[in-house]
Amino acid sequence: MSNEAPDPSRRRFLTGAATVVGGVGVVFAAVPFLGFLRPNVEARAMGEPVEVDVGRIDPGQRLTFEWKGSPIWVIGRSDEHIESLKSDELRGRLRDPDSERDQQPDYVDPQLRSVSPEVFVVIPICTHLGCIPIFYPEMRAQSFDDDWRGGHFCACHGSMFDMAGRVYRGVPAPTNLEIPPHRFAEDGAKLVIGEDPDDAEEGAA
Ligand code: FES
Repeated sequence: MSNEAPDPSRRRFLTGAATVVGGVGVVFAAVPFLGFLRPNVEARAMGEPVEVDVGRIDPGQRLTFEWKGSPIWVIGRSDEHIESLKSDELRGRLRDPDSERDQQPDYVDPQLRSVSPEVFVVIPICTHLGCIPIFYPEMRAQSFDDDWRGGHFCACHGSMFDMAGRVYRGVPAPTNLEIPPHRFAEDGAKLVIGEDPDDAEEGAA
C-alpha cells in the first residue's frame, strides 16, 4: 500500500463485486456513493456470509456492501492512517482506544480493529441513535475538528470516530462502531463478511 495521504480526486466511488459464499448467486455492479451492493436478497436475509472483491482498494477509498440487513463499509487505510491510529495523540482523545468493550471479534487487533491493517471493515451505524456517519478520510482540519486524523463524523449529533471506528471522548455516542466477523481469502483479494478466520480452517480440515 502507498504511504501517500489519501487524495479525494483519486478515490473511486463504490465500484465492486460481491459473491454470496456457496455459489448462491453472483452480482457485479457499479453503485452510487451511498448505495449498497446487494449480492442476493435471500442470502442477505438469512445472514449468510458474503464474499466481496477488495483486491484493488486504495487508501482512502470506501466500498459499501450489505450483510444481514446492515450496511458494511470496507475502507482502505494508508500507512499514515495506520501510524496515526497507534499514536498517543489520537489515543488520548478516544473513549475506548484499546477496544475493551465488546464491539468487535476477539481476533482483530484491538487498536486497528481489523484483520488487515490496510483494509478496515465496519458496520457504519452510529452507536448513539443509529445515524449513518459521513466518511472523512482526509487527515486535515475539518469544520468539526481542528486536528482531524481521518475517520467518520455523525452529523446527527456530532459524534466522531477514527479510521478504526473508535469513538472520541466528549461526544454522544457511547461506544466504538461495531466490527462484523470477517476473513480474507485468495491472498487478500477477497473478503468474506460474516465468517471468522477459524471457519475457513475448519472447512479445510
Ligand atoms: S446518532 Fe450519531 S451522534 Fe447521535
